[in-house]
Amino acid sequence: MTAKRSSIHGQWSSRWAFILAATGSAVGLGNIWRFPYLAGENGGGAFVLVYLVCVVLVGIPIMMAEILLGRRGRQSPINTMGTLAAEEGLSRYWQLLGWMGVVAGFIILSYYSVIAGWTLAYIFRTGAGAFVDADAGFSKQMFTELISDPEKLLAWHTIFILISVAVVSRGVKSGLERAVKFLMPALLILLLVMVGYAMSTEKFMEGITYLFVPDFERLADKNFFADILLPALGQAFFSLSIGMGAIMIYGSYLSHKSSITFNCFTIAVADTSVALLAGIAIFPIVFTYGLEPAGGPGLIFITLPIAFGQMPFGTFFGTLFFVLLLFAAWTSAISLLEPAVTWLVENRNMTRVKATSIAGIIAWLLGLVTVLSFNHWAFSFSFAGVIKENGLFDMFDILTSNILLPIGGLLVAIFAAWLMSRSSTVDELGLGDGLAYQSWRFAVRYVAPFGVVVIFLNAIGVFKLLGFVE
Ligand code: PHE
Repeated sequence: MTAKRSSIHGQWSSRWAFILAATGSAVGLGNIWRFPYLAGENGGGAFVLVYLVCVVLVGIPIMMAEILLGRRGRQSPINTMGTLAAEEGLSRYWQLLGWMGVVAGFIILSYYSVIAGWTLAYIFRTGAGAFVDADAGFSKQMFTELISDPEKLLAWHTIFILISVAVVSRGVKSGLERAVKFLMPALLILLLVMVGYAMSTEKFMEGITYLFVPDFERLADKNFFADILLPALGQAFFSLSIGMGAIMIYGSYLSHKSSITFNCFTIAVADTSVALLAGIAIFPIVFTYGLEPAGGPGLIFITLPIAFGQMPFGTFFGTLFFVLLLFAAWTSAISLLEPAVTWLVENRNMTRVKATSIAGIIAWLLGLVTVLSFNHWAFSFSFAGVIKENGLFDMFDILTSNILLPIGGLLVAIFAAWLMSRSSTVDELGLGDGLAYQSWRFAVRYVAPFGVVVIFLNAIGVFKLLGFVE
């Protein structure tokens, strides 16, 4: 057994600091923006159900594996994979897993930042009372105006990249912990307020039914296996921040005494609750105001302002909501940068400030593609039975969440459960060698890889070719 390493980038001050930071990474636009719009595009209940199954059977076991690798390697994901592979007598090419994560991180951040920019814009719009008594038509028009103006999108995207770079360049630990401690509970309370409003709308039950009761008729023109499973799996990876090294690098700052299992369950429960609450708040409004559930990426930016325009103290709650959403996006963006930044510091001998600036510039440049894909470069194509209207943005999103993150997760699972020696994982997880450990091992060895592979094969139509599904 190797002596325990320590990270040159520091360590969390306590177990709660890790849980808070990792929850900060997990909870973000993925829960409040992406989850509802995907659920809406994919017919509601069936998607939500599959998503929950993916979180439990695939997401949590892989998250544990990823944290385990991070804590054992205690370096940037690229170097962690290199070191652990050498230690277990495996090929150095395992570093490529780290590289894939860095690439995925840049692509995700590049569009994440543009959407976070919408949030910034909405803080000011809501704050100025623009939505008081707004109807659906007005709200739609406001949103369309914003995304059709590349200059505005560019300005907000630039601001968001700058504030993310500012935090990461100082080191993610100072400040993050304190901030997440207050702002996460505040976001949760505000979501509850919005659920309260949703309960007062006419179509509350319709929204809930849409979200939680699978309706296979609604999926008539889709193939349940190919079209629902892949986006749901992708959403589980995206929302839990797994498969690209973000959770691995946070794990590398985790103390040896802390329980990976307890931490993972806490993070996953928090993450999933926020997504479900966002769905519960949004769909009743969608139905009450006659909006289209499959409205695409603008869904929350069109529906929520209508609610803020109607509810008492709506301007106050609305502004606060977008501020907190911005903050949630910010704490996720930080974790998207961290794997690349730590590698630059370790291997290129750069200061954190320089490393972060370089990473920020790459993400900013890539973000221009997303900025333009909502206006000048817009084109549509069909994916998983859904018409996607914002060409390159949608492609970036599909490539990362539905392909790169699941492949990253699959490789993490294979590494941790098939290639690493059993004693290394027993030692690192600290669960002993009893039932708890064996359940985890079974899940990462068989269930998670099997899930990812079957879903991939379905999605690329191999099962169809072989005649297994219609
Ligand atoms: N989990 C984040 C969210 O839901 C996004 C993210 C994905 C962050 C991958 C880090 C890594 O918004």
